[in-house]
Amino acid sequence: MNGIKKLPLGLLVILIIIQFVHPARNKSGQAMPNDISKMVTMPPDVQGILKKACYDCHSNNTDYPWYTYVQPFHWFMDYHIQSGKEELNFNEFGTYTPRRQQSKLRSIENSLKDGTMPLSSYTLIHRNAILSEAEKSLIISWVQNSKDSLNKKNL
Ligand code: HEC
Repeated sequence: MNGIKKLPLGLLVILIIIQFVHPARNKSGQAMPNDISKMVTMPPDVQGILKKACYDCHSNNTDYPWYTYVQPFHWFMDYHIQSGKEELNFNEFGTYTPRRQQSKLRSIENSLKDGTMPLSSYTLIHRNAILSEAEKSLIISWVQNSKDSLNKKNL
């Protein structure tokens, strides 16, 4: 019986202690010479959609929502940012080889068609990151144009 009573208290203590751990935040005030907008045309509406739905995990700047000031949510978010950026970073797009750029653009298109991005654990709270069909088609045709224009550049 005693063990059962102690468990929640132990958990509470741990929860309180981890509130004092604040990992570095994904914020860069730096100029971004390798940003994708330097490589392909990025109309403001496309940029707006990518910013609200993708940039938190796929850029060097995350808009941290209030709940990430509470642990362990910051760690979950950090984990997604780290692995998301490793796969695709819009701010570092220019550092990719032409082949990688093409393959990343293809995966963006696929992820939207399959509905695998943005992550559902994210849209659960970020309702405005759920993309409408119109927003998806806009991004998909931008991806197709970008693939073509990069292809021409690299001929
Ligand atoms: C909450 C964080 C988060 C958001 C928001 C998010 N992603 Fe991701 N994304 C990830 C993570 C984590 C991975 C790597 C692991 C995986 O594939 O699940 C990933 C992987 C990807 C990949 C795969 C890259 C590859 O080469 O296979 C693409 C493409 C992608 N995301 C596109 C997008 C697009 C487009 C959006 C916006 C519409 C978006 N993501 C929003 C976290 C996120």
